[in-house]
Amino acid sequence: MRQEKDSSGHALPRYQQIARQLTQAILSGELAPGSRLPSSRTMALEMGVARATIENAYGELVAQGWLERRGQAGTFVSQTLSPAQPGFTASVAPAGNGEPLPFQMGLPALDAFPRALWSRLMGRRLRLQTRFDLAAPQSEGETALRQAIVDYVRFSRSIDCQPEQVFITAGYGMAMTLTMRALAQPGDGIWLEDPGFPFIRPVLAQAGLRFCPVPVDGDGMNVREGIRQHPDARFVLITPAHQSPLGVALSLPRRRELLDWAALNARWIIEDDYDSEFRYQGRPLPPVKSLDAPQRVIYAGSFSKSLFPALRTAWLVVPPQCVAAFQAAAKQLPCTVPPLYQQTIADFIREGHFWRHLRKMRHCYGQRRQWLESALAEQGFSVTPQQGGIQLVVPVEREDSELAGKAVAAGLAVQALSDWRIAHPGEKGLIMSFTNIATPEQARKQARALREALK
Ligand SMILES: Cc1ncc(COP(=O)(O)O)c(C=O)c1O
Repeated sequence: MRQEKDSSGHALPRYQQIARQLTQAILSGELAPGSRLPSSRTMALEMGVARATIENAYGELVAQGWLERRGQAGTFVSQTLSPAQPGFTASVAPAGNGEPLPFQMGLPALDAFPRALWSRLMGRRLRLQTRFDLAAPQSEGETALRQAIVDYVRFSRSIDCQPEQVFITAGYGMAMTLTMRALAQPGDGIWLEDPGFPFIRPVLAQAGLRFCPVPVDGDGMNVREGIRQHPDARFVLITPAHQSPLGVALSLPRRRELLDWAALNARWIIEDDYDSEFRYQGRPLPPVKSLDAPQRVIYAGSFSKSLFPALRTAWLVVPPQCVAAFQAAAKQLPCTVPPLYQQTIADFIREGHFWRHLRKMRHCYGQRRQWLESALAEQGFSVTPQQGGIQLVVPVEREDSELAGKAVAAGLAVQALSDWRIAHPGEKGLIMSFTNIATPEQARKQARALREALK
């Protein structure tokens, strides 16, 4: 193993070398927040060092806040670390005291959720439960929620489907795992937007998929380039409403081109429609799924942004001809969202609260986005124009990974556009969210802190 040195060139003591390896594993996401470390005895045997060396390494990291001890239960990676790297799940988790970090992405406005109403609905459902509700739930998800989703997508997204085409999953990651279990073979190619949402890549890699990066421009994914470079890929994963992270919409001609190609060559399009509810002006383009006469589109939605991420609830609408394959996959990977939560979401939708909440949030985010844009402008930053969504990109000239590193070190949860890229270099930028900025003053304070951090 490489001898690690301190900044003056001296070899580090063994326990510090181990501590450094552990922090690197945490930063790279290999060791996720909350994961349990082996006992010092096991680790010492594994590494061929004295147990005291491991104890010292753990002790140092506990003192620095990387690890925490939980008595008899053992030593764990701290839940309260700030996000430093893509793939690091803290970027979608609140900071330790429950407050979101400044600019933190992947979170809706936590202050605006009608929690009293939610607990009333959940309490009512709980009181209505009978002994039969204690039995094993349906693998595909609760019938009430699947029906509520059918009604919701019909009105809001012009998608026509039946409840048996809807599958509830524990988050978007599980929705993709289920899709891959139902339809993919190891080695199948999948087009990925470049730049694109990095956190889903480990899930796809786990299923043995081959990544086929396709560049994104002002009209969304460059479909023609995808067909030219990766004609044999079996899957296409897209965020057509507001491309994540650039925020552009996939143009109508490209939607048609993609559908025609998929229909002609029997390919699957996975439409990740994670934030299309949030648009601030004009009418959105219809989802690709609503144009899907040949039935080649698997549509994925999530309640993480429209309700809240602690629900860990997403869903799929799958074409009729793959319902049986998804049912078989769901037998192996049953939905793990508790029925009580699913039923409460169903009531929230059916009783009209969801529509009201979305209308309120559209207004709220429009305002918060404007506050942040103005505050950034006062600090001399520009913002790439976006049609909607809950994050924005600030173009920068200098190395964005380095700038994001400085911002993260100052406690600001921005991410570098380059870290979301796979193979195609392009403009540099910082990605950030505005959803939890509650006042114009807070926006100014955060923009000033960003300017200060990047000096
Ligand atoms: C591009 C994208 N897709 C999907 C999701 C939804 O993921 P989940 O349902 O696991 O919260 C997110 C959430 O951050 C996202 O950014």
